Amino acid sequence: MKKIYAVNGSPRKNGNTAKILAEALKGAQSMGAETQLINLSDLNFSGCKSCFACKLKNSPKAGRCALQDDLSPILEEIINSDGLIMGSPIYFSAETGLYRNFLERLFFPLLQYTNPASSLAPKKVEVSFVFTMNVPAEVMNDYGYTDYLEKTLRFPKLIFGSEKTEVLYVNDTYQFNDYSKYESSMFDAEHKAKMRDKKFPQDLKKAFELGKNLVG
Ligand SMILES: Cc1cc2nc3c(=O)[nH]c(=O)nc-3n(C[C@H](O)[C@H](O)[C@H](O)COP(=O)(O)O)c2cc1C
Repeated sequence: MKKIYAVNGSPRKNGNTAKILAEALKGAQSMGAETQLINLSDLNFSGCKSCFACKLKNSPKAGRCALQDDLSPILEEIINSDGLIMGSPIYFSAETGLYRNFLERLFFPLLQYTNPASSLAPKKVEVSFVFTMNVPAEVMNDYGYTDYLEKTLRFPKLIFGSEKTEVLYVNDTYQFNDYSKYESSMFDAEHKAKMRDKKFPQDLKKAFELGKNLVG
């Protein structure tokens, strides 16, 4: 049975990213996969500390992160799994710090500074991405979000030999449980509620398909 992980880079365990990831995992389950959702906010861990233990020549630890914290056993499981869905909300035009810390710890030890660059990943892992954000799809390009986010999309192929990498952008998300309670006059609360009720369910369906495709 295939094992598929989803990693939530949002501090909200019941937010937009969590809901999208849960649906993607349902898609993977529909193809017979065993799934697990990891909320990074539950874990005590740091980003890469640039110690380079993972790149020491002739070391049994080459390709593995030397840091020992809550993330260590999870990295080992993911590296030996069949698929991973990496999810993050957009904070200040980028992924969350929590997500970037995870990404550094997962990708950097496996990436070897050979010429050309190579990987010490023990097996192929299919990796897809989901990003949730306030901005509507029409302005993503103009804001430079797509160019920025797509820079990391090439790493799964290089590191894990991924062949099916997909990315799902979930735009115009609902941020508060009640817009009237918060200073949020830059948003049209009625429009946001409409997006939550009409568009978000469509995004959930796309997430289900993304999860299915990762396994199928
Ligand atoms: C600190 C912070 C910064 C944010 N910055 C952006 C941003 O730059 N662009 C954007 O489109 N949305 C931004 N958002 C909105 C979130 O990306 C959006 O609400 C997202 O769907 C939240 O996901 P979650 O419910 O999984 O936490 C920001 C939210 C927070 C809390």
